[in-house]
Amino acid sequence: MNKSDFFTADAVKPHFTYDDYCESADMIAAHLGDFRPEVLLLLGSGLGFLGDRVEARTCVSYADIPHFRASTAPGHEGRFVFGELRGKRVAVMQGRMHCYEGYTMEDAAYACRVIRLLGAKTMIVTNAAGAVNTEYSAGDLMLISDHIKLFDFGPLWGPNIDEFGTRFPDMSNVYSPRLRELAKEVAREQELTLREGVYMYFPGPQFETPAEVRAARILGADAVGMSTVPEAIAAAHCGYEILGVTLCANMAAGVLPQPLSGEEVNEMAEQYAPHFSSLILGCLERL
Ligand code: HPA
Repeated sequence: MNKSDFFTADAVKPHFTYDDYCESADMIAAHLGDFRPEVLLLLGSGLGFLGDRVEARTCVSYADIPHFRASTAPGHEGRFVFGELRGKRVAVMQGRMHCYEGYTMEDAAYACRVIRLLGAKTMIVTNAAGAVNTEYSAGDLMLISDHIKLFDFGPLWGPNIDEFGTRFPDMSNVYSPRLRELAKEVAREQELTLREGVYMYFPGPQFETPAEVRAARILGADAVGMSTVPEAIAAAHCGYEILGVTLCANMAAGVLPQPLSGEEVNEMAEQYAPHFSSLILGCLERL
């Protein structure tokens, strides 16, 4: 084993530069004419279809954008859809990059920064997760009030890019209190039960062990999942107002006496997509 084997990919891979982000943004802008997005919709399992509802659509594949990584997770298309949705100019990400695909958090957050350069100031991020809070049920929607990320390098490791934000960004209000109130109002109007809780990031791809889930609960988590946090940190750094909503697709490991499966998570995500999407569209409309 040579010395470099002791480093993680994060430590050896060169970081992106501001010019890289600008190059990606310029390439996308060349497809968009005068159109500029105001809202980034970063959609997790089950909600990618909202991209197909976008009107006056322009699609740009991640594979065609310089510096972009491919999205390899099942059910993730790997493209942006730009256009109008519920009266808002949106950039919908059909497919996101997860660290478990072999990407760094910086890779996972890359798109958020590019879309910020194109003008978006609001990010709506969704995911599927396992419920840690035993008062929750599978199928519950949860507004993310805060997150816990204890593992792994972060998306801001490396030289700070001052054009995006400060070296030591405040994380007191990553998930906008204003947007959370708005989402609660929309949920009330739609008579949807909406929980509010803390999302704890685990890198995956293996589901957590029951002991990890118990630890997460003691630490204050209500749900555990493998996405969202890399993007949310980078998005908070560069000044997005963020709304995060989780579908608790299953009870986390050890809560129920049954094993977890990726198929079950995807099935639940599909099954609850109508409620989930109507909440997200309601919020989008009211932004
Ligand atoms: N753990 C982590 N990620 C998940 C889960 C889970 O139980 N369910 C859906 N995504």
